[in-house]
Amino acid sequence: MNVIDFSKTNSLLNAFVREIRDITIQNDRLRFRRNLERIGEIMAYEISKNLSYKTISVTTPLDVAEISVPDEEIVIATILRAGLPYHHGVLNYFDSAENAFVSAYRKYKETGHQSFDIHIEYIASPDINGKTLILTDPMLATGSSMDLTYRALLTKGTPAHIHIATIIASRQAIDYCVKNFPEDKTTIWAAAIDPELNESSYIVPGIGDAGDLAYGEKT
Ligand code: URA
Repeated sequence: MNVIDFSKTNSLLNAFVREIRDITIQNDRLRFRRNLERIGEIMAYEISKNLSYKTISVTTPLDVAEISVPDEEIVIATILRAGLPYHHGVLNYFDSAENAFVSAYRKYKETGHQSFDIHIEYIASPDINGKTLILTDPMLATGSSMDLTYRALLTKGTPAHIHIATIIASRQAIDYCVKNFPEDKTTIWAAAIDPELNESSYIVPGIGDAGDLAYGEKT
């Protein structure tokens, strides 16, 4: 399985990742959401280099131009709520893509917030059979929400290709996805891969809680 870690390449993407990590910048919610969106836009552009293309003829005022355009039916899926700004960034570029939403949340087993199950409650998705599925989740902590989301979406068909697009992944989550997603048709795209999870399964150094930073703390 191909795993791409953009932090290994110098680009403007790293400047946006810096802003979502930095405690002196990340609490500006508008800027935080826009940075997730900007990273989604860059990620969409990078994924687009991996798609299949067809050549079409376009009539300009002066002549006809031959242009290569993507030739895949794309469905962008995300996990509510933290995934929304990132999803929108990807959708800004793949503007004719279809969209799927899944709600997954951690149900903690005790007040120490150390062990939890992931629950999926809601799924709104088009048919994904034979299509290219881009699974977007800004924080890939353990990989289990992504895996459950993928399995929930399989009730809507079998995708031809899967792109797991994340911003910060833990090394553990990457290993989990490599083991649990179909090897021959999955690519993982991460803006950065961090070494650790803490005892509450937050990514370290990570960014903190992406949903709270984007939309405010929940009770
Ligand atoms: N979700 C987050 O928002 N942050 C993490 O570090 C892990 C999961």
